[in-house]
Amino acid sequence: QVINLADYRPTDFVLERVDLTFDLDPTETKVEARLIFHRREGADPKAPLVLDGDELSLSGLLFDQMEMPAEQYTATADSLAVYNLPAADPFELTISTIINPQANTQLMGLYRTSGIYCTQCEAEGFRRITYFPDRPDVLAPYTVNIIADKAANPLLLSNGNFLGGAGYGEGKHFAAWFDPHPKPSYLFALVAGDLGVIEDTFTTMSGREVALKIYVEHGKEPRAAYAMDALKRSMKWDEEAFGREYDLDIFMIVAVSDFNMGAMENKGLNIFNDKYVLADPETATDADYANIEAIIAHEYFHNWTGNRITCRDWFQLCLKEGLTVYRDHEFSSDQRSRPVKRIAEVRHLKSEQFPEDAGPLAHPVRPTKYREINNFYTTTVYEKGSEVTRMIATLLGNVTFKKGMDIYFDRHDGQAVTIEDFVKCFEDASGRDLAQFSLWYHQAGTPLVTASGSYDATAKTFSLSLEQMVPATPGQTDKKPMHIPLSLALFGENGGKIEPASVEGAEYTGEVLHLIGRTQTAVFHGIGSRPVVSINRSFSAPINLHLDQSPADLALLARHETDHFARWQALTDLALPNLLKAARDAREGKAIACEQTSIDALLHAAADESLEPAFRAQALALPSESDISRELGSNNDPDAIHAGRQAVMKQIADRGIAIFTGLFEKMTTPGDFSPDAKSAGRRALRNAALTYLSYVENGPARAKAAFDAANNMTERLHALTVLAHRFPESDEAITALSTFRDHFAENALVIDKWFSVQATIPGASALNRVRKLMESPLFKRTNPNRVRALVGTFAFTNPTGFGRADGEGYRFLAREILDIDQRNPQLAARILTSMRSWRSLEPVRAGLARAALTEIERAPALSTDVRDIVERTLKG
Ligand code: ARG
Ligand code: ZN
Repeated sequence: QVINLADYRPTDFVLERVDLTFDLDPTETKVEARLIFHRREGADPKAPLVLDGDELSLSGLLFDQMEMPAEQYTATADSLAVYNLPAADPFELTISTIINPQANTQLMGLYRTSGIYCTQCEAEGFRRITYFPDRPDVLAPYTVNIIADKAANPLLLSNGNFLGGAGYGEGKHFAAWFDPHPKPSYLFALVAGDLGVIEDTFTTMSGREVALKIYVEHGKEPRAAYAMDALKRSMKWDEEAFGREYDLDIFMIVAVSDFNMGAMENKGLNIFNDKYVLADPETATDADYANIEAIIAHEYFHNWTGNRITCRDWFQLCLKEGLTVYRDHEFSSDQRSRPVKRIAEVRHLKSEQFPEDAGPLAHPVRPTKYREINNFYTTTVYEKGSEVTRMIATLLGNVTFKKGMDIYFDRHDGQAVTIEDFVKCFEDASGRDLAQFSLWYHQAGTPLVTASGSYDATAKTFSLSLEQMVPATPGQTDKKPMHIPLSLALFGENGGKIEPASVEGAEYTGEVLHLIGRTQTAVFHGIGSRPVVSINRSFSAPINLHLDQSPADLALLARHETDHFARWQALTDLALPNLLKAARDAREGKAIACEQTSIDALLHAAADESLEPAFRAQALALPSESDISRELGSNNDPDAIHAGRQAVMKQIADRGIAIFTGLFEKMTTPGDFSPDAKSAGRRALRNAALTYLSYVENGPARAKAAFDAANNMTERLHALTVLAHRFPESDEAITALSTFRDHFAENALVIDKWFSVQATIPGASALNRVRKLMESPLFKRTNPNRVRALVGTFAFTNPTGFGRADGEGYRFLAREILDIDQRNPQLAARILTSMRSWRSLEPVRAGLARAALTEIERAPALSTDVRDIVERTLKG
């Protein structure tokens, strides 16, 4: 069944209030929902009230406290329809259901994890708890009463402010919560159980004190300290950057170990995958700390962008997600190094979103149809959605952007709105027509901009011809030209910036060139010498750019661009042709030789002490194998790409051995561990050096020494990865892997890393290793983090292992998907998206991949989630 945006209409009934009572029991939880409705003015006076359900059974129904006659309603597992309701007067329905949290392996609705009751209701999980108008445009204040066994569940939590609690019969107690802010059902949450807590307070800008609590399993409290610190910084930042103040007396976070996604922004009661809460110096990497900071911020920022102002329907998901990702990116940029953060964002966008946009699962940031909404929590909606928001800020300038945001918060507080409402705020703030710009929300596919420049010395002009093309995507063949903001600057031969006297043929304000036509030529006047042009600085638009630039020009930008993101881009543009050529040469069995300018530029950056270490580490991290296959586009052979890249690494290592040795010795972080960005940058650079050094003499011994000497998880895990990936058969690797496992056997999050390191060992033998690991007592099929760490990581990030030539990797995945789908469709569908680029493989592998997908498609009893992904993947 397909849901279409065009079919949207408001509900016939308005929900005024929600009063829920839960009598918790692991297998038989009684839920009573008292809902007060009235018929919407102008609605059909005869229309029935139709509520959503999912695997529900009705155990009682009252109308204004009286038993409802059986002929006045029909209840099935997935809906409850009530007839003959009043034409105008408010009425109350009391709906009783009995649910089984223990049996809920989908992790949607109310479920159990490690003895804790918890909920996940976005997008459509609330309908697994009770019959309800389970859609985001139905907003109401909620009262929640929780009754449970007191010994097992000392803690009873829900949204909003705590009203009170007391004993309740034999061995039980109850608690009541009230959330005064009208909210849709997807933001409902309930947690009950026995957990430890860390507490703090935050005083808001208007002087209100908010109680902050982070709940974790007993004994893990110290590992929540960094999350608490990140939360307080987020609250402060949202006040300073966006003028947003928190609006309840209490803000709670609960960490659970079984969770389908990263985290959830339930009003006042965020629920997190514990991976994004728990960290300590012994067990967390710098990447873990950065993720925790970003996700804590993300969920907190949703309080305004998502909760106070929510989505009219699920087609508008990017309204809250794109905007909130943009906000968490800005937060992290302010807390850390802005250019390094931008490089990391763009790397992530290109490796995750660009392939999605170029494959069968491509869809617009604001889609117009879906079969399963869970499959639209994508990197296009999130990350490209964030880039679209960023472009609005680039086009309008920060001051006008903030003015537009203020209009948005004022105008739409308490409402469920659309992307059109959002864009209108910026049109009103700027007086600009954003109709063409809005195509970014509606047209899928990554635009390709082809540019070429020519310099006229007599006229002292530089002409830049630009052409844009938006590729066809499933369901969208004809695309219109987009409004593309290109941050652009010209540099002279000496590296200094050249300011043009004037620009013709394109709007060029604040160093941003507006590309609006399919083709357009901008003429820069008053240019005294041949300039080197830098286009799409800071990645101002999420596009592919084709611009022929000589290695010498790129090397100049790599040294002199004032925008450090653009420096990194220039280094990447220098390295990429080498990697592409190496892959082609490897496929043809030819010798591989690198062009020297690129290696010299890279080594120059690595050794340049005026640059921050984190930047130098990013420069040294060559495009990944999947980046290379994306650039190659078609007929991909993962083995050749791998072999080519290894050969390039070796040549860089040989030439840079002195630099790498020096960096490895110098970039230590002695003393007490600190997760700050500067220390993390030193560790990243040291790790990059160790990677290169593994290509020169005595690799295993050196990496093993680094592993043994490591005083933090970032370096320990990296050394382990180098050992396992580069020397998998060595004694050093085998010893290190077992030492690591034994030392951290009690820490699930570290054991996830242990699985991932092994899942990504390159080569055809990876599959047998993965199979053996699945038989390990440490492997837990029901735990999403563990399944993602082993099966997900193998499928997504081991191109030579998963994509081995005989197709066994694809067949393995097909069987695993079918197995996971029995328990957890969302998880199965997510991991299956690892097949999204199958058409760009060489013909033999593509045929084998298709066969595996077909095997899934033909299986009986697929979930809607997996059916939707497999059919689109095969068809698109
Ligand atoms: N709104 C959450 C976030 O971005 C994601 C929850 C998605 N959950 C799901 N089952 N689709 O923070
Ligand atoms: Zn979000």
